[in-house]
Amino acid sequence: ITSWAEPYKIKMVELIRMTSRQERAKAIRDAGFNTFLLKSEDVYIDLLTDSGVGAMSDRQWAGMMTGDEAYAGSRNFYHLEETIRSCYSYKYTLPTHQGRGAEHILSKILIRPGDYVPGNMYFTTTRLHQELAGATFVDVIIDEAHDPASDHPFKGNIDLDKFSDLIARVGADKIPYICVATCVNMAGGQPLSLENLRALRGICDHHGIRIMHDMTRVAENAFFIQQREAGYADKTVAEITHELCALTDGATMSAKKDAMVNIGGFLALNDELLYEQACEQVVIYEGLHTYGGMAGRDMEALAIGIRESLCDDHMRARIGQVEYLGQKLIDAGVPIVRPIGGHAIFLDARAILPHLPQEQFPAQALAAALYVESGVRTMERGIVSAGRSPETGENYGSKLELVRMTIPRRVYTQSHMDVAAEAVIDLMERSKQICGLEFTYEPSCLRFFMGRFKVS
Ligand code: F0G
Repeated sequence: ITSWAEPYKIKMVELIRMTSRQERAKAIRDAGFNTFLLKSEDVYIDLLTDSGVGAMSDRQWAGMMTGDEAYAGSRNFYHLEETIRSCYSYKYTLPTHQGRGAEHILSKILIRPGDYVPGNMYFTTTRLHQELAGATFVDVIIDEAHDPASDHPFKGNIDLDKFSDLIARVGADKIPYICVATCVNMAGGQPLSLENLRALRGICDHHGIRIMHDMTRVAENAFFIQQREAGYADKTVAEITHELCALTDGATMSAKKDAMVNIGGFLALNDELLYEQACEQVVIYEGLHTYGGMAGRDMEALAIGIRESLCDDHMRARIGQVEYLGQKLIDAGVPIVRPIGGHAIFLDARAILPHLPQEQFPAQALAAALYVESGVRTMERGIVSAGRSPETGENYGSKLELVRMTIPRRVYTQSHMDVAAEAVIDLMERSKQICGLEFTYEPSCLRFFMGRFKVS
């Protein structure tokens, strides 16, 4: 046999509701043309995010029943800590309620006002926490990452010259760390190579700059390295993941993605002194250091989910499903970010709606139209998500103006992917009828979550 299927079978199902076009047109108006404000019951196939929406395994659910809900020293915490140490190499673990809880604490302990934090593209909450702590974010990803058509195999790579230029310009003492994301979300789920990370390690060691790893989708990055980087074809996803993590000094993790739990995250560190400082913050903002923001049962499900996420068969099915959808769209001539990413397909809204200027939020409009046409929920990843500079009040420019069709892990079947592809292909034919949008309510930060729009 040369073809493969998912390495699991379905034991329980959740029923979903079909809606009429008329119902959906009303629902999106009521939601201010923002797919984040739709009720989930009005959604047929939910590709809003891959965060917290994965299907847990029977083993994870069984683990939930062994939760030790002691306030201090829960057995499940020690299991989680041991799992993170052996799978990811990090010595100390602080559980947090989700990824941004870890970002908050990391930013608080490491950033001083006036600092600079470079990163391989921004993530919304990550950058905001850096800015709230007084830092300026500097994008040091390679230029190819900003070009949806470039098929560079490692579009998540750091541009080492951009990083070195920043060090020369502001001085290493103003750079507490570089934030390195694996499988860069905003670039389209694009990986970085181990070669690039190793070279970065050399520069950072020379200048005494830490590497902090946003490891939210590290296993997906490891899979791409196995497939694409010379010398790694015979290594397992688990081995490559360990190697990636071991090149960094610590990590923030949204466990709701790779690790397939519905809620949770952690801050992981190697430096004991930093860990002590982080503990002081965790007890203020999250909870005692042995549970942070998580229930014992959730830490157990996470420990089990981490190991499941590192299985080659799982990852082949996971990325294979994303590829299946992406290839269907490519074959039909739909412009999407290339190469196909790890967790999502990103539609190039600029190319699909060339009649709309970026100030009319083409990606936001496309996501709303796709929902009305088909009940498929997606999200904007363009100028609305990019937000405004706190200093100038201007919109952050965003070269990428994308709609993200995010695939939850172990949730949908190939038939759901067929429907989602058909919905996009149908809509392409009527794309000229899609009108631009304008804000009727713009929140002061993370505006994409709760902003409201009307047809302009
Ligand atoms: N870092 C990355 C790369 C992320 O994708 C996310 C969340 C976070 C950090 C924050 O983690 O949500 O647990 O607080 N991304 C979700 C998404 C929301 O839909 O892409 P969180």
